[in-house]
Amino acid sequence: MNQATISHPLFQQLVKEQSTIIDLLAQLDLCENNDDLKKLSLNLQTFAEIQHHEKEERLLFTTIYQNQKIHEGGPMCSLYFDLHQFENRKVKVEQIIGRTIKHTHQQAMLLKNRTPLVIPIEEHQSGRDLLAYILEKVDHTAFAINKINLELYKNIQVNHIKKEANCLYHMCAGLLSKDTADEILAEWIKDT
Ligand SMILES: [Fe+2]
Repeated sequence: MNQATISHPLFQQLVKEQSTIIDLLAQLDLCENNDDLKKLSLNLQTFAEIQHHEKEERLLFTTIYQNQKIHEGGPMCSLYFDLHQFENRKVKVEQIIGRTIKHTHQQAMLLKNRTPLVIPIEEHQSGRDLLAYILEKVDHTAFAINKINLELYKNIQVNHIKKEANCLYHMCAGLLSKDTADEILAEWIKDT
């Protein structure tokens, strides 16, 4: 197979979007009131959640899941799981929102065999549910509390992006042919 590499334009596109998310997150330090936090949260919901993470799951993860090698483990996965154990924020999010995180139908399918995809999916949904909670409560909650919750969202995203850029995307590149990566990128751009 003509294998994709991490320098394929698909991964360049993903990394470019990650830096847009990091730039948005940096605006948290400039927020002075709940209106600022609300505006930033809505921008994050649109770009990070509805566009970037959703497309990762629908276009990239569903393709990777079809590859038998993702079900076999290996050293890359060990590093990934180690980082996850160290930085797992799911429990903290569930304490704040007062319930367990809710997975979509597509996520439930991808979670079936406990592949390394469990980690990014859990992080996506923890962030997504926390952001939805922040937006639901922002108008009726003290600025300081809203800001602490959005700081946690930021922390989840920064760690998530670091893991994807340094670990998951490399693993994905090794599991995709160049042609399949081209097809995913075409779909990705069409959907922007
Ligand atoms: Fe992601």
